Amino acid sequence: MKKVLVVYASRHGATRGIAQRIGDVLQTEGFDVDIAPAEHAAGVGAADAVVVGSAVYMGSWLKDAVEFVKRNEVLLGDLPLWLFSSGPLPGSSLDKGQEADPLTNALGPQEGPGSGGRKKVEEISAATHPRDHRVFLGAFDPDDPPKATSERLVRMLPAVKNALPAGDFRDWDAIDAWAHEIAASLESSPAQASPVG
Ligand SMILES: Cc1cc2nc3c(=O)[nH]c(=O)nc-3n(C[C@H](O)[C@H](O)[C@H](O)COP(=O)(O)O)c2cc1C
Repeated sequence: MKKVLVVYASRHGATRGIAQRIGDVLQTEGFDVDIAPAEHAAGVGAADAVVVGSAVYMGSWLKDAVEFVKRNEVLLGDLPLWLFSSGPLPGSSLDKGQEADPLTNALGPQEGPGSGGRKKVEEISAATHPRDHRVFLGAFDPDDPPKATSERLVRMLPAVKNALPAGDFRDWDAIDAWAHEIAASLESSPAQASPVG
């Protein structure tokens, strides 16, 4: 049975929920699935495929997700790899609408002011060659207190405070469909050779 490692970085749980859902779909498709937070995730060497997702805050992936990819860069580069970002809140000032490039919507422009977080994700992508990087709508509960100083400060800014729509916008159909795509892609590629002896 092929092993899939699903790794996530989440501050408030929305991304963890997406990772869990992807893992559930892959399990129902017959894969042996392990789901782990990026700071504790291990076992890349034993996996046949890896999915890594991060929440996006102010145009950047969370540090734990970036560091997970960097510390496993060589192994991930040899495995089927999928990335996802859990980000845009529809109607927020950060959301440029459905016509915009999804990565730009979540992580900002490729160049110029505000491109730092995007560049970091592009660097780790260039090193690991993911088969896809999907952006999923996220969730925001203003009653859930900030979990990082930077988030506390940003959430206090009036421009941000008024621009973050509250709600759970996660599109479970889109998430399920993507997980099925991953399963189909893995089913059509040959299993990794098992060590002999
Ligand atoms: C202060 C703040 C900044 C955010 N910045 C971004 C952003 O730059 N791009 C984006 O797509 N989403 C942004 N979001 C939305 C979050 O990424 C979204 O709510 C995500 O699903 C949260 O995931 P988590 O619950 O796993 O932490 C921001 C949310 C907050 C509260």
